[in-house]
Amino acid sequence: MPPLTYANYLDLEKLLTLQNPRSTPAEHDEMLFIVIHQTYELWFKQPLHEFEKIKRDFSTGDLFGAIHSFKRTRTIMKTLVGQIDILETMTPSSFSSFRDRLETASGFQSVQFRELEFLLGYKRSSAMAHVKPNFPGADRLQNRLTERTVIDHFYDFLETRGGNLPEEVKKRDITKANEPNEQVQREILALYKSSPEVSILFELMTDFDEGLQEWRYRHIKLVERTIGAKKGTGGSLGVPFLKESLFKPIFADLWAIRHEM
Ligand code: HEM
Repeated sequence: MPPLTYANYLDLEKLLTLQNPRSTPAEHDEMLFIVIHQTYELWFKQPLHEFEKIKRDFSTGDLFGAIHSFKRTRTIMKTLVGQIDILETMTPSSFSSFRDRLETASGFQSVQFRELEFLLGYKRSSAMAHVKPNFPGADRLQNRLTERTVIDHFYDFLETRGGNLPEEVKKRDITKANEPNEQVQREILALYKSSPEVSILFELMTDFDEGLQEWRYRHIKLVERTIGAKKGTGGSLGVPFLKESLFKPIFADLWAIRHEM
């Protein structure tokens, strides 16, 4: 066996052959467009990995484990937001020069982004319509629909801290999105007051959530400045569609109580 090297550990030769612009002659900015989307997909992979750990941390009541991993996912979110600056250096006319080559391909079809939403608790079965059953990863997404979400495991965590959770939350239909619940909010509020170390976790969760909304906002602005009022390649109305989820928090219970502190 040859000794392990940087390149073969990371499978770099394979990785670096995966950027294949479709325009001929190649449009200069298409390389950036591909690299940035691939980078995003890699960065979606990591939070998916982290949230699996967070689910376990929550259910076993491992506060510091959850704090550690939320800190990481929050920091990744900041990177995802920051990277939009790079793509904004591409002008509308530059994008138009190769946009037709994308045909109907669209971020709509990002299985990992949707997995992240479902895993967190924002399950939208309507989103499945854009992921055809033969897409790679469609089965993973389907499985996510029937899995307990990060928020369901967060309920477990609240119970490990003495929280009294209502039956409608514990026996909810897990194929649906988590909904805000007043009893859960009261338990969170009580912990904010009684347990400073748990409040650190709540704040990190809020940071992450705000980061995701920031990403949505920056993505919309990117779309607006690059294609204006055009429809999306995925067939949506574009900006008006994206605005629907703009201010939608994941951890709605954490946002609902802030005026009560
Ligand atoms: C020039 C740059 C971009 C444009 C013009 C653009 C445009 C759009 C549009 C119009 C949609 C709505 C669906 C549709 O009809 O196609 C969409 C959705 C989406 N895009 Fe982008 N996008 C860009 C860059 C990116 C980047 C860099 C990412 C990173 C992964 C991304 C990820 C997504 C995701 C995940 C959705 C689904 C969002 C949701 O359903 O809430 N997009 N994009």
